[in-house]
Amino acid sequence: MSLLQSAQAVRKNAYAPYSGFKVGAALRAQSGVVYTGVNVENAAYPEGTCAEAGAIAAMVAAGETIISEVCVIADCPDPVPPCGGCRQKLAEFCGGDVVVTLATTAGAQQITTVAELLPGAFKPHHMDL
Ligand code: THU
Repeated sequence: MSLLQSAQAVRKNAYAPYSGFKVGAALRAQSGVVYTGVNVENAAYPEGTCAEAGAIAAMVAAGETIISEVCVIADCPDPVPPCGGCRQKLAEFCGGDVVVTLATTAGAQQITTVAELLPGAFKPHHMDL
């Protein structure tokens, strides 16, 4: 199963009763294992979490911290752009050249990179004294 197919499959489990906007994310870690996540909304709206955050949490819980490829899919007119917070979350575990595929359920795709999504990301080295 491709990374896109993994994102598409997991998207069906998104919990999005408030926005109705289901998102699926899949990322391949350095080991080759694929981790997936969905958005999980909450009646207290700000407590909702994004699909990318769920996939990252699954990866870290499994003991991995290096991402080699990312795919995000939603049912929207244009390939779904990750929110600003998720761009920063991805940058924590990705080199700038990591490929990110943004997709729609209708079949459109935009292929970009983490550096293109978040130029000038705040990275751990910025805290070096
Ligand atoms: N959402 C994601 O899961 N990922 C994104 O990159 C964009 C937005 C979710 C959050 C919320 O549950 C819904 O989409 C509408 O904003």
